Amino acid sequence: MADTITADMIIHDVVTKYPNTVKVFHGHGLPCTACSVGSRESIAGGARTHRFTPEKRDQLLSDLNAVIHGEIPSVAPKKAPVGKGIPLNILSADPNRKIKQVIAIMSGKGGVGKSLVTGLLAVSLRRQGQRVGILDGDITGPSIARMFGTTGSPTKSASGGIEPLRSKGGIKVMSMNMFLEKESDPVVWRGPMVSSAIKQFYSDVDWGDLDYLLVDLPPGTSDAPMTVMQALPVDGVVVVSSPQMLATMIVMKCIHMVQQLKGVIVGVVENMAYFETPNGERYEIFGASNGTELVSMTGAPLLGQLPIDPSLAALCDSGRVEEYYAEAYELLAANFISTLKIKR
Ligand SMILES: Nc1ncnc2c1ncn2[C@@H]1O[C@H](COP(=O)(O)OP(=O)(O)O)[C@@H](O)[C@H]1O
Ligand SMILES: [Mg+2]
Repeated sequence: MADTITADMIIHDVVTKYPNTVKVFHGHGLPCTACSVGSRESIAGGARTHRFTPEKRDQLLSDLNAVIHGEIPSVAPKKAPVGKGIPLNILSADPNRKIKQVIAIMSGKGGVGKSLVTGLLAVSLRRQGQRVGILDGDITGPSIARMFGTTGSPTKSASGGIEPLRSKGGIKVMSMNMFLEKESDPVVWRGPMVSSAIKQFYSDVDWGDLDYLLVDLPPGTSDAPMTVMQALPVDGVVVVSSPQMLATMIVMKCIHMVQQLKGVIVGVVENMAYFETPNGERYEIFGASNGTELVSMTGAPLLGQLPIDPSLAALCDSGRVEEYYAEAYELLAANFISTLKIKR
C-alpha cells in the first residue's frame, strides 16, 4: 500500500496497515472500521453508506493521511462515549493478571444462539493459538459442554481449586451442568444463586494462565447477567442478536444495560440471519438483517452474520463444534480477531 490513503482503498486494509486510523474513522462517525461491511468496503463506499457529502469525504481522507504522517487531523479523534467502542485495554494493562481478557457474551433473550456464538468465538481464538477458557453461565440451556463434547465431572486441582474440563482442541470449559448427576436434571436456581455460582466459577476454578476467558452469560437483562457484569472484570461484551429481535426492543434493553454498567461493546453478531439453499438461494427467514441499525446503536462493529446452518447444529449436537468451517464463520472469526488486535 502506498503511503497515501485514497478513497478506493478498502477500510479494512487501511486500518490493518495503520491501526491509528481507527480513531479517525470513529471521529468522523464511521464505526465500521472492523465490521464485516468495513472488511469489504472502500472508504468511498463507507462514506456513501453513511451519507457523507463529497467535502466531508475529502476531509476524512485528508485526516487519515494526516495521522499516518504523524500530523494532527482537523477533526479531533473523538473519545468514544462510555459503552461505545472503547478500546479493550482497561484492565489488560496489568501484566500480573492471569486471565488477560474477560469477554462476556450477551443476548436479550434465550434461543438466539448466544451459547453457540460463545463456542464459535472461543474456537476462533483457539485456532490462533490463544489460551482460551469458557465459563458457561447460561444454565437455561447448558449447551457449551455438549457442543464441545466435554463429559465428566471436574476434579480438584493441585492447588485445591477446581480443575476445568478440556475440549479436544484444548479449550478449558466450566459449566454448571458438570455438577449435575444427569444432564437432564433441571437447574432450578434463582437469579442470586446463578450469579454467585458464576462468580465462584471465576474465582475458584483453576483457569491457569489464559489469554481469553469467554463468559456465556444468562440471557436477558435480569439480576444474574447484571451482577456478573459488575462482579467480574469484564473487558468487553459481544452482543448476539437475531433479525427479529430489534423489532421487539429486546436487544435495545440489552445494549442499554451494558451501557449503564459502563461496559464496552466490542462487537455485535447477528445469528440466524438467513438460510442458504444448496444452490445458493438465500432466504431471510426471520426478516431482513438489522446489522446496520445494530452498528449505529452500539457504535460497535458488526462482527458477522451467521446463517442457519443445519451442519453446524449437527456438529454441536455431536460435540464437534471445533470442526466447523464455513465462509460466514471465517469472516466472523477474522473480524473478531482483528477487532481485538486493533483495539488492544
Ligand atoms: N446459526 C445456527 N445454525 C443452526 N443452528 C443454530 C444456529 N444458532 C443456534 N443454533 C441452534 O439453536 C439452538 C439454540 O442455540 P443456543 O446457542 O443454545 O442459544 P442460546 O444460548 O441463545 O439460548 C441450539 O440447538 C443451537 O445448536
Ligand atoms: Mg445458551
